[in-house]
Amino acid sequence: MFIITTKKILIECIRYSIRMLIMFTIIITYIFFILWLMLQLTSASYWNTLFHLLPGSFRNDDTNRNIYELIESRGFKYEQHFVETNDGYILQLVRIINPLIANDDEHYNRLKPILLHHGFQCTGTSWLIARNGTLLSNGIFQEYSDEHESTASYGNRFNSYPTKDTVGDSLGFVLATKGYDVWLANYRGSIYSTNHTRLRTDSSEFWKFSIDEMILYDLPAEIDYILEKTQRKSLSYIGHSQGNLMMFGLMSLSDYYSERIRPFIALSPVFYHDGGIRSALTRFIPFIDYLRSNPSMVPFSSGTRSFFSNVCENILTKQLCFNMFYQFTGTIMDNINPNRLTVFTSNIGMGSSSWNAAHLLQLYKRLDGNFTSFDMGDSVKNLDRYGQSEPFNYDASIINSTNIALIYTENDWFNTIEQIERLRKTLPKKLIDDYLIPNEWYGHVDLLWGYNVGKMVNQRILNILNHY
Ligand SMILES: *[C@@H]1O[C@H](CO)[C@@H](O)[C@H](O)[C@H]1NC(C)=O
Ligand SMILES: *[C@@H]1O[C@H](CO)[C@@H](O)[C@H](O)[C@H]1NC(C)=O
Ligand SMILES: *[C@@H]1O[C@H](CO)[C@@H](O)[C@H](O)[C@H]1NC(C)=O
Ligand SMILES: *[C@@H]1O[C@H](CO)[C@@H](O)[C@H](O)[C@H]1NC(C)=O
Repeated sequence: MFIITTKKILIECIRYSIRMLIMFTIIITYIFFILWLMLQLTSASYWNTLFHLLPGSFRNDDTNRNIYELIESRGFKYEQHFVETNDGYILQLVRIINPLIANDDEHYNRLKPILLHHGFQCTGTSWLIARNGTLLSNGIFQEYSDEHESTASYGNRFNSYPTKDTVGDSLGFVLATKGYDVWLANYRGSIYSTNHTRLRTDSSEFWKFSIDEMILYDLPAEIDYILEKTQRKSLSYIGHSQGNLMMFGLMSLSDYYSERIRPFIALSPVFYHDGGIRSALTRFIPFIDYLRSNPSMVPFSSGTRSFFSNVCENILTKQLCFNMFYQFTGTIMDNINPNRLTVFTSNIGMGSSSWNAAHLLQLYKRLDGNFTSFDMGDSVKNLDRYGQSEPFNYDASIINSTNIALIYTENDWFNTIEQIERLRKTLPKKLIDDYLIPNEWYGHVDLLWGYNVGKMVNQRILNILNHY
């Protein structure tokens, strides 16, 4: 009996080892094949075609769609608006147009304008990609279960929501069908906002900006522009991550803009940093000096994003890619639709300046956790920039807005509950909402792309907006 069992175990072990060896060989072969290809070709579209010829590959059409294609693929239209900032950057706002509403000022100005502001390394596409869907002729935005997506293996866990009352997952489209005039921000230096009145992106001058400039110039220019265009006195704002850091920063400097943002809904309200950040982004802290002294676009090559996303569209590489995604975002596999992983990865790494990255890393490093302006790394340069030898402190305790809502999650690798607690205690006025998502595994980007985000987050947002 004992011998037979041992023999069985031994055979199982050998079988297992052989399987692992085969897997390993296949993966190594792939890696070498890919590296070899990298040396042969440079154009991204060649790559994408070639990767999809490999066995085990699958495709999600959204992976290579840009912001305009994403909007059109769901049955909406868009407008491009170019907004010039006081320091000469030309930012692109993309407005989602619901084709069932006559596109003239008279009809459109009846809708409440809302500005959606993405986080670090993202763009307006953040708000569009949670799920596949279509605008139906009866005005309902219908989203599909992942049966419609390639290599569906997760059954019907992602149910579709066909009725008028249910709320979809892709917030941008949801709002565009629920009475809002949706504007998508793209901060300076992202792939959609690379224009400047004087500077070109191949000059390092262009890239000399941090979060401070986005606060001082980008947000005011965008807000002024939309209010002027829509003939309104106030504007709703939803931020994710750095989009909130920026708005809190602006509100701490200006009551004028505080009064114009009604309401400000912060998905992952980033402000203080307590050293509890778990994202692999913190591994770049040693590179602060390098990033600061080489003002340039990060990531350094714009092709990288698409390259990796296309490599990841293969059953062999998928898990590896997911692990990388997890290291940075903390999102667990159960919380996103795994067939859309490459859609998410291809919409991260959309560009910003190395100073933006250095600014965040400086904040992660600070012992007091304060949100301070960009540290030029030397007191003379700081003096030149700020009139004082140290960066200045953004002070949340003087924010006078009475229209702020915080929505956050427990498993957020960028924003701990303690950080948020400190912000909540510092904000002097009563909040209009203070909401912890009731799912302990929900993470930072799950607020945009997570499982059931329509019910979990978007419904809450609509309830808040209803009061305005
Ligand atoms: C989205 O759904 C539509 C309609 O079912 C389908 O034709 C399309 O291929 C889907 N797109 C993606 C990216 O899965
Ligand atoms: C640059 O801005 C102009 C309008 O000022 C616009 O026509 C053009 O498309 C923009 N280019 C890019 C690449 O954004
Ligand atoms: C908020 O109001 C207080 C009291 O009026 C004022 O001292 C403070 O400067 C205001 N905050 C901002 C950002 O202007
Ligand atoms: C950090 O912020 C607190 C207020 O939250 C302030 O009292 C303190 O002076 C700040 N530290 C620095 C170094 O500015």
